[in-house]
Amino acid sequence: MCGYPAKYALIFLLLALSVFLFLLSAPPYQANTFCSHMDLEPPTPDEALEDHYLLKAIAWPKLPARPAPAPLYQTSDPVHSLFTILPSKGQKEWHVGDQLEALVQMHNFQGSPKRYGGDFLVARLHSPMLGAGVAGKVVDHLNGSYSALFPLLWGGSAQVQITMVHSSEAVAVLQRLREERPNRVFFKSLFRSGKLSETTTCIPCLPPDSAQQPLCNYTNLHTGEPWYCLKPKLLSCDTRINHAMGGYEKPLYTNQEALLFQR
Ligand SMILES: *[C@@H]1O[C@H](CO)[C@@H](O)[C@H](O)[C@H]1NC(C)=O
Ligand SMILES: *[C@@H]1O[C@H](CO)[C@@H](O)[C@H](O)[C@H]1NC(C)=O
Repeated sequence: MCGYPAKYALIFLLLALSVFLFLLSAPPYQANTFCSHMDLEPPTPDEALEDHYLLKAIAWPKLPARPAPAPLYQTSDPVHSLFTILPSKGQKEWHVGDQLEALVQMHNFQGSPKRYGGDFLVARLHSPMLGAGVAGKVVDHLNGSYSALFPLLWGGSAQVQITMVHSSEAVAVLQRLREERPNRVFFKSLFRSGKLSETTTCIPCLPPDSAQQPLCNYTNLHTGEPWYCLKPKLLSCDTRINHAMGGYEKPLYTNQEALLFQR
């Protein structure tokens, strides 16, 4: 593998999809207060172990406690951020089987270095010509710098690409939403009989004020898992023919916070 220019501009590719992935990630059990009436069987030891691994896999990085949300110009800006390829054992030469390390320094929109971690970065090493690529491991040094570590698996040229998916400030917003607003997504179902069709909203857990509205109860008799839809005005509950995501409850975040999710 040949040498690299020392610095590459950090490539910014905000994946809009990732916002949705985050918003859909599972809420912690205890925060799901609307489901507090749920009386499910306690998990078996196998299920508890699986729960543990799943929660570990989606664990959030620890974010620094800050008194107030940072103004936009103090948040991480990929355009001002840089990474440097560190020499291997003091030399600018790499061999298959070595590890390549890139040191990332994040900066804010004013160009000042960030002094805390928590940015969601993904790193990859790839060679478009060879069609080869490998994901890097990103280590957060919690002071605004990160190491991206790549195994070198093929001979020839390769490019490093580091993407900021979300700034730590955006991650903090997503984390708050996950904890405080577990039921952000709502669902809907279509009911149809003959020429008549109606769509209503569906909810996994009964809202506290549900007593007034007529409901269709689709709770799974086998597992006890709750599922309700508002009853259609004209049709009966057994004319339900489909199920889809209805959208996100609004507003999820403030206008100020929305700026953190721009491309
Ligand atoms: C950040 O932390 C890393 C790892 O501890 C250290 O090598 C680096 O010098 C630190 N950077 C700054 C700017 O303090
Ligand atoms: C819905 O059905 C389940 C299972 O039959 C039952 O336990 C639950 O109480 C019902 N919910 C309501 C609001 O009637």
